[in-house]
Amino acid sequence: MTDSTPIALVTGASRGLGLVIAGVLARRGYRLVIGGRDRETLDKAAGVLSLHAPDVRPVAGDITEAPVRASLIGAARQLGGLNVLVNNASALGAIGPLLTFDVPSFSRIFPVNVGAPMVLTQLAVPLLAERRGLVVNITSDAAIAAYPGWGPYGATKTALELLTRTLSAELAGQGVSAVLVDPGDLRTRMHQEAFPGVDISDRPLPEVTVPFWNWLFDRDPETIRGQRFAAQQEDARWLQPA
Ligand SMILES: NC(=O)c1ccc[n+]([C@@H]2O[C@H](COP(=O)([O-])OP(=O)(O)OC[C@H]3O[C@@H](n4cnc5c(N)ncnc54)[C@H](OP(=O)(O)O)[C@@H]3O)[C@@H](O)[C@H]2O)c1
Repeated sequence: MTDSTPIALVTGASRGLGLVIAGVLARRGYRLVIGGRDRETLDKAAGVLSLHAPDVRPVAGDITEAPVRASLIGAARQLGGLNVLVNNASALGAIGPLLTFDVPSFSRIFPVNVGAPMVLTQLAVPLLAERRGLVVNITSDAAIAAYPGWGPYGATKTALELLTRTLSAELAGQGVSAVLVDPGDLRTRMHQEAFPGVDISDRPLPEVTVPFWNWLFDRDPETIRGQRFAAQQEDARWLQPA
């Protein structure tokens, strides 16, 4: 293990898409910091990732809490820095017609899905700048399409998209790039929570996005700055034979 060993921080990496992204990074030899609230699940994920990653530091806690964000960045600093920050942890909130929503219904999901990733990024930028690093913010097609019932969650992702593009422009010339990734529908806990009682076995597992992540992490971050990717796009470059 040398000082040039790459380092990544993935929020919400205890299960679902985040665990798959962390797995891709582990197989690529990254040292990892992983986050999630449930300590037991997170520790289990760290054990699995340790089979491939040279070092895995689980940091349990809610991403909306400042000490948790500081611990995540502190763990990355202890590992030696940061090449990649993946803001993946997200809250679904209530799904339902906008006419039924009151103000408190909006008050939890915006801090989790918008505020926390942006403030975590602020803390990460000095480390990322030292390694010409990349911020990956996970969005959704609900940010663009007006799906009935999905307005509040979709609005958080729309806000995240605008802020990511703004951030990308503001960081130009500072050695840090930012991109957006819409992973597409995936068979995860969040997706099941969005469709209670519905059989979601026709949705692909998050592992379907592995070719995309390998393609993305092969790129020089400067060459993809500010772009938005759909990981399950059918005619995608990452699905073409090399
Ligand atoms: N699944 C889909 O169909 C789909 C489609 C489009 C976009 N996405 C996006 O993909 C990303 C991953 O979703 P997923 O489907 O993999 O969800 P998931 O299976 O529910 O996993 C969410 C992860 O985030 C963690 N997390 C949630 N709230 C947190 C908080 N406040 N603080 C810290 N960690 C938190 C969870 O662990 P704890 O619960 O233990 O905290 C878990 O590790 C999200 O950004 C989501 O919006 C998903």
